[in-house]
Amino acid sequence: MKNVVAPRIAALHGYVPGEQPSDAERVIKLNTNENPYPPSPRVATAVADAASRLALYPAPLADPLREAAAARYGVDPEQVLVGNGSDELLAICLRACACDGGSVAYPVPTYSLYATLASIEGARAIEVPMEPGADLPEALLMSGADVIFLCSPNSPYGTPIRLNEIARAAERAPGLVVADEAYVDFGGESALELLVDHPNLLVLRSFSKSFSLAGLRLGLAFASAALIAELAKVKDSYNVSRLAIAGGVAALNDYEWMTGSVQKVARTRDRVIETLRARGYRIEDSRANFFWLDCGDDGGDVVSRRLRDRGILVRFFDTPVLRSGVRVTVGTDEDMDAFLGAMLD
Ligand SMILES: Cc1ncc(COP(=O)(O)O)c(C=O)c1O
Repeated sequence: MKNVVAPRIAALHGYVPGEQPSDAERVIKLNTNENPYPPSPRVATAVADAASRLALYPAPLADPLREAAAARYGVDPEQVLVGNGSDELLAICLRACACDGGSVAYPVPTYSLYATLASIEGARAIEVPMEPGADLPEALLMSGADVIFLCSPNSPYGTPIRLNEIARAAERAPGLVVADEAYVDFGGESALELLVDHPNLLVLRSFSKSFSLAGLRLGLAFASAALIAELAKVKDSYNVSRLAIAGGVAALNDYEWMTGSVQKVARTRDRVIETLRARGYRIEDSRANFFWLDCGDDGGDVVSRRLRDRGILVRFFDTPVLRSGVRVTVGTDEDMDAFLGAMLD
C-alpha cells in the first residue's frame, strides 16, 4: 500500500480502550467505569420517539439538550456545547486552542486519552507527575501551556482536585483550563461555580458514567458564551445525533434517577474499599465510581489475568507508575462480592 498517511499519524499508537467483550460474553465488567445500573426508562422512550424523524438532520448545536442542560445547571444555553461524548469535546478544545504546534499540560497519571489526543492534534504534551490528592505542581502552573487538562476526580485514583486549586490554575494559566468532571456526580465538587470569575475555564461533563449512557455518546462543555462560540467553529456540523439529543434531554429531566444510582454506587464503593483495607490493602479515598488497588508484589498484570480467568475484567495500565496495580470500577453489590471473593479467598 502507498504510504498515504501523514508520518505523524503513521507513528501514532492510537488510544487503546479497555476490553469491550461481545454482548454475548458473560463477564463482570469492572474495567471501563461504566455504571452497572440502567439509565432512566424515559431515555428509551424518548429515543424511540426520535427514531421516527431520522430522515432529518439534528439541530446543529443540539439546541433542545443545550436548553435542558442550561436549565439544570444554572447557566445560559449559549454557555453549553454538546459533544459526541466528552472525548469529542476534549479533542475540540485542543483543535481550537493548541493547534499549529501548541501545547497541552496535565498532571500524570491521568486519563490516558489526553496524550493520544495531543498526538492526533499535533500539540506538544507536557506531563507533570503528581501524587494522588496533592496540590497542583508548580511545574504545571508554570508550564505556559495553551491548554491544561485537570481531571477531577482523577483517574485512576479517584482523588479530587480542590476547587481553589482549579481556580489557581485558571488565574495563573495563560491559556484554557479544562476541568474534566466525567466522575464528579459520584462525590466530587464541581468547578461550575468558578465559571463566572474565570473566562478561560471550561467544565466538562459526561453522560457515560453517572447517567448510565456510555452507549449513547454524549458530553457537555460549560464555559463563557464567547469561548463556546469559538469552540463550536471546529466541531463537526451535526456532531450529535437526534437519538442522543432526545435521550440526553430525557436523562436530565429524570435527574433523580441518576442521583439514585450514583448513591448506590457510592455506598458499594465505600463498603468494598473498607473491606479491602481491613485485609491490609492501601487504597486512596475515591470520589469516583472506581478505585485504585495496589497489588503489591503480584503486580497488576498478574492480578488482572487471575481475575480475567474468573470472568472479572478490571483495568491494567502497563506504564512504569501504574503497572503495580489495577483500577477497579464499582459494579453492583453482587458484582463486587464476586470481585472480593476472587481477591480475598
Ligand atoms: C476522565 C475522563 N474523561 C472523559 C471520558 C470520556 O467520556 P465520554 O464517554 O463522555 O466520551 C472518560 C471516559 O472514560 C474519562 O475517564
